[in-house]
Amino acid sequence: MAKITFITSNEQSTTVEGHQGSVMELAVENNIEGIDGDCGGVCSCATCHVYVASDQLDKTGAISEIEKDMLELDDNVTELSRLCCQITLSDDLDGLILTIAP
Ligand code: FES
Repeated sequence: MAKITFITSNEQSTTVEGHQGSVMELAVENNIEGIDGDCGGVCSCATCHVYVASDQLDKTGAISEIEKDMLELDDNVTELSRLCCQITLSDDLDGLILTIAP
């Protein structure tokens, strides 16, 4: 079980809990504003773009080449960017804070 906090563009903070699937699926199930997951999690839409808190990058693991390529197409990419459909829920993610990209 991991508690994940999402911060939306209007600075609303919502913490939800999950234990399986992807972080994108957790966000969609909980109607987190700004996470659409249009491609269903196959890394081809970037509607699940988030920024990981800078001191938590190690929690989310390595970024794949496919994910990196997809993010490079997004104007709002930063070194904290991830596509949250590519982050699998696990206990290690407990306490993770994600800001939703514009
Ligand atoms: S849901 Fe489409 S890239 Fe993540």
